[in-house]
Amino acid sequence: MSDSTNILDVRLYHKGELLETGISIANGRIVKLGRESVLPAASETVRARGLLALPGLVDVHVHLRDLGLSYKEDYLSGTSAAAAGGFTTLIDMPNTNPVTDSLDRLREKIDLAKRKILVNVGFNLVPESLDTIAETKDLAMGYKINLVKQWSDLPTDDATLRALIERATSVGKITIFHAEEGSTVDELESRLKGSSSLKSYYKAHPPEAEDEAVARVLGCTHERRARIHFCHVSSTGSLRLIRKAKRQGRHVTCEVTPHHILLSEESSSRLGGISIMDPPLRRRQITEKLFAALKRRAADIVASDHAPHSLDEKTRPSWWNIPPGIPGLETTLPLLLTEVAKGTISLRRLVEALAERPSMIFNLNCGALEVGAVADIVLVDMKRRFKIDSSKFLSKAKYSPFDGRNVRGKVVKTFVRGRLVYDEGRIVGEPGTGSIVTPAMED
Ligand code: DOR
Ligand code: ZN
Ligand code: ZN
Repeated sequence: MSDSTNILDVRLYHKGELLETGISIANGRIVKLGRESVLPAASETVRARGLLALPGLVDVHVHLRDLGLSYKEDYLSGTSAAAAGGFTTLIDMPNTNPVTDSLDRLREKIDLAKRKILVNVGFNLVPESLDTIAETKDLAMGYKINLVKQWSDLPTDDATLRALIERATSVGKITIFHAEEGSTVDELESRLKGSSSLKSYYKAHPPEAEDEAVARVLGCTHERRARIHFCHVSSTGSLRLIRKAKRQGRHVTCEVTPHHILLSEESSSRLGGISIMDPPLRRRQITEKLFAALKRRAADIVASDHAPHSLDEKTRPSWWNIPPGIPGLETTLPLLLTEVAKGTISLRRLVEALAERPSMIFNLNCGALEVGAVADIVLVDMKRRFKIDSSKFLSKAKYSPFDGRNVRGKVVKTFVRGRLVYDEGRIVGEPGTGSIVTPAMED
């Protein structure tokens, strides 16, 4: 009976249906579903009448920072924000200080993170050379390239990208792209940087720069087995190109962020510097199409692109000096559950986009509540309405372009491998409760 919990009377999301049931957890896994009378005895009992039980969410695009950037976020604050937002598995991005570009750098991160994390975390890597791919294949979840800002010494010309995709594919790995064509953005920036209007920042990052980059990446390979994932898609042109590649039977996937589907450039003058992110918010006409694409699965998943910065950095007087990025871990689920409550997207599609599909795309072996599955579970109260208030975030980044929004659907409890880590607004788990996720890990 050690390390066992029964969660009673939940409405459990199970293969598209809501079941009134209980969940029995032992040694970190779901061992039985059913009424209280049929569940085995357990050391802990959680009464959860009226709460919705969802699979712990998976966010494949998170900048947890730490190391030299721990003033922006560290593994404990970032994974606390994740637990508060219902996320139990994250994939971290390599643009840290130092950059995660080699096996040693990756090991350093893992050694530090394993003592601090509250939820499960895997790490992406930006290779310093093509040989790094084979060297890091047992630890890196995927290989991430930013085409607008080079993060490592690896060049981003066509020949290198082709070789990168080939090498990653040969070791069964996914390549992940921030697709905005750097040369196009650089040229526009140098022309527009004299201007102090926020509009100029937007003009320097046009949707066409994204289309161009997506087309270039897709043109680099015709190998069907190559798994290619595009981050934060924010243009209709790139959606079209991705759809075409999918129709050709290629393993191409993409994510949209909550901010790109729910906010638009039109609101940026009101929001100012805190709404600067890269790619930037798009015009309403586009954002509506991105949301529609999510609904019909043309955009596969939602990722937060949690990219925390300090408030001092986000309130610098010149737009050009503001680092792009916003925190997203604590707003993503309530924002999208509010859309479910409004009827603009189904709960089924939400669970698919925030748990099932990201788990499949990144081979994570989680994202479903069923017997035998890892007990990563979030309990949500759909009746609770509240206002987004960034001053209460557990992330160090206490700002949000969504501040003041009325939302519905509050995370009440988050379990990671059967352990309660977040309970009614408080972190109750010990740092180190989360596991390091590696591609080799059998789960
Ligand atoms: O908005 C962004 N923030 N876009 C990026 O490409 C980087 C990220 C960050 O690390 O802050
Ligand atoms: Zn990016
Ligand atoms: Zn990012």
